[in-house]
Amino acid sequence: MQQTRGRFSSRLGFVLAAAGSAVGLGNIWGFPTQAASNGGAAFLLVYLALAFCLAYPVLMTELVIGRYARGNPITALTAVSSNALSRVLAPVIGGFGVVVASLILSFYCIVGGWMMSHFLAELFGLLGMTGVAVWLETFSLSRSLLFTALFMLLTIRIISQGVESGIERWSTRLMPLLLTMLVLLTLYVITMDGAMEGLRVYLIPDFSIALSPSLIIKALGSAFFSLSLGVGTMLIYGSYIDDSESLPKLGTQVTIIDISIAVLAGFLILPAMYVALHNGVEIFSENGSLISEDTLIFTVLPALFDKIGLAGGVVGTFFFMLMSIAALTSSISMLEVPVATAVEKSSLQRNVASYAVGGAILLVSITIIMNFEQLFGAVIAFTTRYSQPLLGMLICIYVAWVWNRGEVLQQLQKGSPDIETSTFWRIWPAYIKYVCPLVILIIFVQSF
Ligand code: PHE
Repeated sequence: MQQTRGRFSSRLGFVLAAAGSAVGLGNIWGFPTQAASNGGAAFLLVYLALAFCLAYPVLMTELVIGRYARGNPITALTAVSSNALSRVLAPVIGGFGVVVASLILSFYCIVGGWMMSHFLAELFGLLGMTGVAVWLETFSLSRSLLFTALFMLLTIRIISQGVESGIERWSTRLMPLLLTMLVLLTLYVITMDGAMEGLRVYLIPDFSIALSPSLIIKALGSAFFSLSLGVGTMLIYGSYIDDSESLPKLGTQVTIIDISIAVLAGFLILPAMYVALHNGVEIFSENGSLISEDTLIFTVLPALFDKIGLAGGVVGTFFFMLMSIAALTSSISMLEVPVATAVEKSSLQRNVASYAVGGAILLVSITIIMNFEQLFGAVIAFTTRYSQPLLGMLICIYVAWVWNRGEVLQQLQKGSPDIETSTFWRIWPAYIKYVCPLVILIIFVQSF
């Protein structure tokens, strides 16, 4: 099996693919809107602290275990199991990760589809085809079904092409484009009237809100979601890294890119909201709080783009293209989890597995669309708020408590021969053994 497994062809290939997975709607939409309604810079600080102190160490556990086992989450957890109990639980935990990754993809495709339809709406609007544009930007069942399927199809096509010519090729094409658009859009929006008020909200901390337990669990879920943790994505991407690479270095680079883009997106979204307010678009609900996150992106921003005429159309087109790209480089990393597992656990060809698994997940998406009120929010909360941190904690336990410490060190020494004397090795093992599981558990229990 070793020969037939894919590999990233270069360090940059991995970093862009993993950053592509990490940077998604969570960064560009979730983080800024949550920061806006939850204490601005105070939320930012809590988020940064959790990302570096909890998410980064957990990311490292996934990369190490993945590269060691060179396999899917079920194989990987089994490979490091040292006793009967851990061997029995490994497929259950790994399998649960695969299911959660698939469920995340099922709602993510719906939102990715909305982004794509808004992108086309702005584009057709620019071309003067208002009729089509209005259909594309109006919420309807037919539109959701059509664009969810289209978005899933794109995801499947890329994944069916494999690691190097699918995931890596598309991530290295799309990520630089994403970053360029994000920077240009931010520079443009920040010069508009009203933008300063948004910056003020983003940068002045209100600790009275940001330190509440419910907010910390939100920020934790956010950080885990943003770094694609707990569901085997990073574990599988780690299994495609060459032995000559230093894992702590790669992990740091991915974390820094992910966090920087979330912070940068805040400099776009918050000013844009207040520019909208300045232009007469309402952004507060009756009780004085910010309107909900989806209304913000799909109502406020399009209304703003409409109000600023031709320039608005251009900005709108680029904005939703940016969102669609961010969503796509993440959705491929979610589909890779069940597809790689299916290929490795059965005799299915990658191509067939991609369409079969992607098709099955699309059916789940359709079920969610048809029962939107009951299912959409519930699936998001179940997967991102609870399952991801819990699974992250279990992977920590496998690496720190179940796996043999000598083997962990050996794996890390590949690509970083001096690791044993580094600060990383002095802190990380004890850290993932005691601090991470305990803190995740406390935050988790508090949230009930
Ligand atoms: N990290 C992605 C985002 O921020 C979401 C994601 C979660 C991707 C889990 C893969 C696995 O949008």
